Amino acid sequence: MAPIDYIERIPNNVSLAENRRLLRALEDWQPKFLEWWHDMGPEGFQSRDVYLRTAVSVDARGWAQFGYVKMPEYRWGIFLAEPEADRRINFGDHQGQPAWQEVPGEYRGTLRRLIVTQGDTEPASVEQQRHLGRTCPSLYDLRNLFQVNVEEGRHLWAMVYLLDAHFGRDGREESEALLQRRSGDHDKPRILGAFNERTPHWLSFFMFCFFTDRDGKYQLASLAESGFDPLSRTCRFMLTEEAHHMFVGETGVGRIVQRACELMREHKTDDVRRYGGIDLATIQKYVNFHCSVSLDLFGSEVSTNAANFYTMGLKGRFEETKKDDDHRLKDGTYPVIGLDGEEIVTRQEPALVSLNERLRDDYIVDCQRGVNRWNEIIKSHGVDFTLTLPHRAFRRAIGAFAEVRVSPDGRVVSQAEWDARHRDWLPTEEDEAYVASLMQPVTERGKMANWIAPPARGINSQAEDFEYVRLT
Ligand SMILES: [Fe+2]
Ligand SMILES: [Fe+2]
Repeated sequence: MAPIDYIERIPNNVSLAENRRLLRALEDWQPKFLEWWHDMGPEGFQSRDVYLRTAVSVDARGWAQFGYVKMPEYRWGIFLAEPEADRRINFGDHQGQPAWQEVPGEYRGTLRRLIVTQGDTEPASVEQQRHLGRTCPSLYDLRNLFQVNVEEGRHLWAMVYLLDAHFGRDGREESEALLQRRSGDHDKPRILGAFNERTPHWLSFFMFCFFTDRDGKYQLASLAESGFDPLSRTCRFMLTEEAHHMFVGETGVGRIVQRACELMREHKTDDVRRYGGIDLATIQKYVNFHCSVSLDLFGSEVSTNAANFYTMGLKGRFEETKKDDDHRLKDGTYPVIGLDGEEIVTRQEPALVSLNERLRDDYIVDCQRGVNRWNEIIKSHGVDFTLTLPHRAFRRAIGAFAEVRVSPDGRVVSQAEWDARHRDWLPTEEDEAYVASLMQPVTERGKMANWIAPPARGINSQAEDFEYVRLT
């Protein structure tokens, strides 16, 4: 397949130059994207050199090239994973048929909605994170923030490509609308709840990358199974970028945990706030918050929409092709938790309508692996504390538990108990104020804020004092 062409105004590996109509649509959108990036992208660092990686090929080995780039000059473009010869639709009613290279007419509206919903999250997170640069704990972290931001910008390009290439005039209108909604704006909010929350400081940024970008991984992985081949190939390449975002989240929280443990040992106290750390109990509250917000992104436990996406062949299960069943799911059942009065119970539901819950299960297992690694850090410091994921029914706003109060350990509780206890379970205004008070920028080469440990190794094996962002 074509290598990535960086001579073109829009880098791509889809032979864009040969498709004049599409090229014009994207060239028309590009300045609007840049305007959005200037208005809503990272504030205050647009003219700085940042040590970023750029995709140079889409194969697994060596797709990245590192170098200093000013963010507005980042080479956003359109990169699809290699096509699979003779790819088939692997699930649903069209199982066994050749994968679609064009949008199947009867599913046009549904497919467009799926792509727009995914696409909307990409600029949203950039908007949520745009003020964080001012309070970076180190140049290393500042660079990672910007890497995540430019890649979310590229993910937006990926979805806009699909809209412009396959949905004609509607697609172009949706592409414009993706630049017009704003995270947290009452009049024109982003589509999904978690993407309208604030990301006020770096603890919430790292939690967001761990929990919310991981939702992205699972959504992309399901869309990568799609029978609509251009969507599948687009998402497969996006997943390689997403992995870095989760790395930033997991290691970011891990380094805060490590620093808390160091301070606990050094001063023989749990109260590390006195020494400028973020105590483990506070970290647990942020886990509870970000996990519950992200669990909502998977939607209702029982969902006919999810069933339809699957039956239509548009959105599969996580690792669909590795599963050993009929890939139609008309007869099977799946265990789904729900409410029976005040009790949380597990019921067998038809497998097809349970696909959101199944994906949520896969997600929770993955989250738990990361939490286990944080607990290893705690254990290695001889500290007796275990971070846990909150029960999936905790603080949910969507689905079977939206109307009840549930504790992090999974008990349905009264409003009175919730009122008495929620300050122990979720960040309070005092917690927020304390964490915010730590957010003083550290921009000297090789220096780290006191509340976070240094990374185990540099980006692209760079030395500890590497100048990841040139501020002068
Ligand atoms: Fe993304
Ligand atoms: Fe991401």
